[in-house]
Amino acid sequence: VRDGNGVKGMVDSGISKVPQAYVQPPAEQIDKKNASKHGQPPIDLSKLDGPDHDQVAEQIVKAAETLGFFQVVNHGVPVDLLESLKDTAHHFFSLPAERKAVYRAGVSPTPLVKYGTSFVPEKEKALEWKDYISMIYTNDDEVLQHWPAEIRDVALEYLRTSLDMVKKLLQVLMGNLGVELDESKIDSLIAKKTVNMNYYPTCPNPELTVGVGRHSDMGTLTILLQDGIGGLYVNIPEDAEIGKKGEWVEIPPTPGALVINIGDMLQILSNGRYKSAEHRVRTTSTKSRVSIPIFTNPKPTEKIGPLPQVVEKDGVARYREFVLADYINNFYTNPHDGKKSLDFAM
Ligand code: SIN
Ligand code: FE2
Repeated sequence: VRDGNGVKGMVDSGISKVPQAYVQPPAEQIDKKNASKHGQPPIDLSKLDGPDHDQVAEQIVKAAETLGFFQVVNHGVPVDLLESLKDTAHHFFSLPAERKAVYRAGVSPTPLVKYGTSFVPEKEKALEWKDYISMIYTNDDEVLQHWPAEIRDVALEYLRTSLDMVKKLLQVLMGNLGVELDESKIDSLIAKKTVNMNYYPTCPNPELTVGVGRHSDMGTLTILLQDGIGGLYVNIPEDAEIGKKGEWVEIPPTPGALVINIGDMLQILSNGRYKSAEHRVRTTSTKSRVSIPIFTNPKPTEKIGPLPQVVEKDGVARYREFVLADYINNFYTNPHDGKKSLDFAM
């Protein structure tokens, strides 16, 4: 892993069994047989612009209030771009080690791009079976200058074509809270954007490892493209009025669809109404998997707390106010541990 070619390099070198550093404690190992598939059909976002607007808005709100995860189609991101993104991710991780290793933390020529493996390897009891490249968006010029040339064009196009959808979803979710936000307020909820490419190599002992351990996402909304392999599981929240609490449901790969999930910031802003659901990823022994998330966040300097309009209605603020930069720092210095990241706001 330290040689700069990640878990992939280790697998390519030919291992027949998982090194001890990647063996999860029994409680974190994933029993495939115990999960059901999330049966909810994807939400057709093109209908937000027609006579069925209210019905579709209700589906979005309901999903955000219960599982915190849903899939969308007719989202405005061209389906052939989704295919290019997956191909590009495979291509990038197949490049020679040196090409990726230049972006490792501490040596990367730019603070915008980081290549790594696992989440916080220095602190984790067991490492995650995953390599990734993370690219922060600032402006188009800097993207062209700093993001890896092999991936920047498709990644930027993905981000560009997703933003209308993200804003529409936020209008719906905020509107439902009784908060009407103008364009610039919506923009401020997603002022900071990051595109990641995740690579989960095949694993000789998938029952012992995790691709990503239990966590909730930190930001406002996450947009996720997953390929056809499967393995993304969501935990049904305690207070969701669906399914069996604590059960893991798989978000099934759906051609042409994107996965949307609520992050901690939206749970906090909504005073707990929207669920930043705990999720994790399993590994497989047969095929490598890629996923490509876009993370959206307010500006790190922003003060975050439950929206006053919601607190007034609820009669109680369920989270304290904090500066986002402090939340981010706490999030990225602790190993994945379910929804513990939210404790920072309590
Ligand atoms: C993640 O939640 O960190 C990754 C999700 C995925 O790969 O499906
Ligand atoms: Fe996640």
